[in-house]
Amino acid sequence: MEAQTKGYLVAEPVFLRACRGESVEHVPVWFMRQAGRSLPEYRALRGTGSILDALADPDLACEVTLQPVRRYGVDAAILFSDIVVPAHSVGFGVDVVPGRGPVIAQPFRSAGDLERLRELTLEDIRHVTDTVDKAVLALAETNTPLIGFAGAPFTVASYLVEGAPTRTFGIIKGLMHSDPALYHSLMDRLVQMTITFLRAQVDHGARALQLFDSWAGSLTRDEYVRFALPATKQVLAGIADLDVPTILFGVGTGEILDLMATAGTNVMGIDWHVDLDEGRRRVGGGPVQGNLDPARCLNGAELAITATREVLAKAGTQPGHIFNLGHGVLPETDPEVLTQVVRVVHDEGKAGVR
Ligand code: CP3
Repeated sequence: MEAQTKGYLVAEPVFLRACRGESVEHVPVWFMRQAGRSLPEYRALRGTGSILDALADPDLACEVTLQPVRRYGVDAAILFSDIVVPAHSVGFGVDVVPGRGPVIAQPFRSAGDLERLRELTLEDIRHVTDTVDKAVLALAETNTPLIGFAGAPFTVASYLVEGAPTRTFGIIKGLMHSDPALYHSLMDRLVQMTITFLRAQVDHGARALQLFDSWAGSLTRDEYVRFALPATKQVLAGIADLDVPTILFGVGTGEILDLMATAGTNVMGIDWHVDLDEGRRRVGGGPVQGNLDPARCLNGAELAITATREVLAKAGTQPGHIFNLGHGVLPETDPEVLTQVVRVVHDEGKAGVR
């Protein structure tokens, strides 16, 4: 497939074609959390302070978005942003504490808190769309697509309700089971914010979207169907008219992959707990993204290359594989290891290669 851009015929990037299940020249690869703390050039640029302040500076956020593309030659950039940006932008009182994660000054606990989640406007996220504008312009040179993203409503709600990262999800599970009406009102607000946030990124040139339902794996199948899937479906339906492929990802989702695959996404992200061939079977055979265990990149290039080859073997030759980690890059990862992973995927990946 070819697209007309400024009078030139530009080939559709392999990443986008693989997302649509088409055949490609080489298996595309990018890494969740590729923009961030594992890169010395990121740490040099970033300084101290909250990531939310760094994101308010479009020049800085654009540069961080581009750094991994330059260093690794990955097939896609992901916007340097965070899943809590929409809630922060409407003044919900979110901070991101280094080494810990999002912390909420006054967590969502009662109907009165709904007022604090007002409608998201384009003005609220001007810094994000300015970053997208700059990144898209810079990436045009190499025809590298930009992936926009958002947190899925359940995962964002887990932070807003719990007030801090949690292992048990006890407070949000208490809310969903004791006051489902209030829980669903919260989800309705988050659905609208998420659709606005994602549409704005595509309006400014993002060419694919990933929805992070990172903590969906904490739910039972029944809880997922009642309390997470409907909102995810609404978000995906709210962007379905945009001509961009979508990726839906969560961690520890082996038991719910078949359910997630009904949400209306093009590509299913598979975390590293499930072998890729088995994951693909569970999602019904459509395109998959994944799933190298990020921990296997911590012990030098040789061991990481072995692990990369294991994933490629499980992916097989069927079109529609986007190579990625099974979760984000760990901060202590040696960037040189990821450079070698990209090389091996490009040289040896077989899925859909003509
Ligand atoms: O993937 C990328 O490279 C793009 C940037 C990106 C960030 N956060 C930047 C970031 C993306 C896609 C995210 C998504 C995100 N944020 C998720 C979903 C992905 C996942 O990992 O499951 C979640 C759950 C969050 C919430 C969040 N923000 C956490 C758990 C943390 C880590 C806290 C820590 O310091 O350990 C953050 C902060 C954050 N977001 C950092 C980065 C680079 C690191 C902190 C910093 O540089 O200040």
